[in-house]
Amino acid sequence: MKDYSFEEYKEIIEEHLMDFIPDVDHKSITLYDAMRYSLLTGGKRIRPVLLLAACDFCCGKIEEALPYACAIEYIHNYSLIHDDLPCMDNDDLRRGQPTNHKVFGEAMATLAGDGLQSAAFETMNKDMFLYFDDPTGLKKRINASYEISKGAGCRGMVAGQVADMEAEDKNCSGEMLDYIHITKTAALIVAAVRAGAHLGGADDDLLSKLTIYAENLGLAFQICDDILDVEGKEEEMGKRSGMDDINKKATYPAIYGIDKSKERLNQLTDKAIDALSEFYDNAEVFTKLAKELAVRGK
Ligand code: IPE
Ligand code: IPE
Ligand code: MG
Ligand code: MG
Ligand code: MG
Repeated sequence: MKDYSFEEYKEIIEEHLMDFIPDVDHKSITLYDAMRYSLLTGGKRIRPVLLLAACDFCCGKIEEALPYACAIEYIHNYSLIHDDLPCMDNDDLRRGQPTNHKVFGEAMATLAGDGLQSAAFETMNKDMFLYFDDPTGLKKRINASYEISKGAGCRGMVAGQVADMEAEDKNCSGEMLDYIHITKTAALIVAAVRAGAHLGGADDDLLSKLTIYAENLGLAFQICDDILDVEGKEEEMGKRSGMDDINKKATYPAIYGIDKSKERLNQLTDKAIDALSEFYDNAEVFTKLAKELAVRGK
């Protein structure tokens, strides 16, 4: 086990993030530039770090998890490009830079998102070709790819984005709000952790503890994002604040108020940490991340 810190895993991701982007014909250089623009303009890299950390935690080789870690970051970046489009959240600032469509136009931004999504699946499939003669290795990779597809797709992130759009300017129940947050955000975070755990060879017990951690962290993550939209500083977040109010989004602060939202954030953080408490310092990267999130949303 390498047992790296968040920053150390993140450095590995940053170093290899472009490695799996397919070479493009010079005739489609604009597409490449638009994909590259979003991938390389910062980002916390939480999902790929969680994937590598989960693989490492389960005693897998993190080098072998890299294609899947990069793939999930490609999917996340595609989701952000589309999320920022005028037909969705209509944002002009992301990671401290103009959003993709502000630089490349709406059509190209849409296509850059599409390109990143297919690059993710191409990356994972290409890796699986290497394991045709190793059924155990292949099974781990199919499991990882399945988790990522499921988390990203029409029962996961995309379903959540649809529910998020449909809930704009409407009365939204607490149950519906949780459905939105769990699908649009937690699903990909859960997918990252579970994919990493599969790649590391986790048994059912370890997989289920890591899943409980990720489910709680994932919901906490979106509640924190909602709180920061109300209270955060644009310079620190690299994105506009107050957009949820403008778009009349169903958010934790809008439905429960700020104090209750913070209470829920803390409860979920405690639950996430509890899920891995038996592992003490070995789970530090996971528990530290959850604690830092709670502090960000304070
Ligand atoms: C933003 O995700 C979208 C949400 C799910 C709240 P991140 O906060 O992980 O964005 P980056 O990648 O760090 O910019
Ligand atoms: C986005 O949630 C979730 C995604 C699937 C991209 P938000 O719309 O709240 O994310 P931000 O605030 O724009 O980053
Ligand atoms: Mg949105
Ligand atoms: Mg948004
Ligand atoms: Mg937000």
